[in-house]
Amino acid sequence: MDPNGRPYASVIEAIGDTPLVELSRITAGLEGRILAKLDYLNPGFSKKDRIARQIIEDAKAQGSLRPDQTVVELTSGNTGTGLAIVCGLKGHPFVAVMSKGNSMERAAMMSSLGAEVVLVDQLPDSKPGQVSGGDLDLVERETQRLVAERKAFRADQFRSEGNFRAHYLHTGPEFIQQSGGKIDAFCDFAGTGGSFAGCAAAFKEYSPAIQCFVVEPEGAATLAGEPASSPDHRIQGGGYSRSHLPQLRPGHIDGYLKVTDAEAMATARRLAREEGIFAGFSSGANVAAALQLLRTVLPGKTVAVLINDSGLKYLSTDLWSQADLRR
Ligand SMILES: Cc1ncc(COP(=O)(O)O)c(C=O)c1O
Repeated sequence: MDPNGRPYASVIEAIGDTPLVELSRITAGLEGRILAKLDYLNPGFSKKDRIARQIIEDAKAQGSLRPDQTVVELTSGNTGTGLAIVCGLKGHPFVAVMSKGNSMERAAMMSSLGAEVVLVDQLPDSKPGQVSGGDLDLVERETQRLVAERKAFRADQFRSEGNFRAHYLHTGPEFIQQSGGKIDAFCDFAGTGGSFAGCAAAFKEYSPAIQCFVVEPEGAATLAGEPASSPDHRIQGGGYSRSHLPQLRPGHIDGYLKVTDAEAMATARRLAREEGIFAGFSSGANVAAALQLLRTVLPGKTVAVLINDSGLKYLSTDLWSQADLRR
């Protein structure tokens, strides 16, 4: 229902306003709270629906996206799913350019929603399920080629202000409103850094005391200034070994946290078993990082995290093991 008690005019209006849940089982025995925003409940089953809507609506309002113009985007699958929904409903053909290293559930979902999906081979040394910065460079090259060929509008989530604005105008304020402003810290696994940057800006505006931490994969903590000793991690959607992300405002970063693949996966499994929250690798990374904060520097505090996307997007991976299915 919309705020006037009427049905939504389209599923685009059902994006956002996701529930906030306290993870009281996972934090049992620890002092402090983790508040998780269930963004996997968006129509495309990820938080990236928010930026798809904002980027397209901003571009239409500014006149940089013409009626019927094709939209092209480099995506790990989630932004592409959001764009497939938003572009489909607003009458724009959409081309998603994705590395073959991302799980194939995402490609199937995008094409089912009407997108043209262009899959780009990984580098010869890369492994499926592990998209490196080098793999992403190949996807970037193909994206640029397609934008020129189709005279398309590029959604450009790494640079577009709509990415930041989606989280600054909506996700961050929703966290503040739903928690009654009782948040001490926020930690977020960075891909484009848009979720971190937008939420951190909203938090800092509300209270500069809210501490904001960027989460990176162990072995690829390049934003923290470390070398990428092991860039081929398992946490899909981010950790691309970039030393700089245009979305990030350095003044809003209070610190950096590192999460291993094993920690992210174990925590995603705990989220499913203990909290009934069926999410992906990066959501496990966010909650693992929040647990680190409660165990070390912020005992007794309240840490906010995003649950980024659905575990259904990883059914083909070993995040959900066959042994679990037989029980
Ligand atoms: C599953 C998942 N987690 C985390 C991220 C990173 O979010 P952001 O790009 O806002 O930093 C993404 C981005 O695509 C994602 O798809």
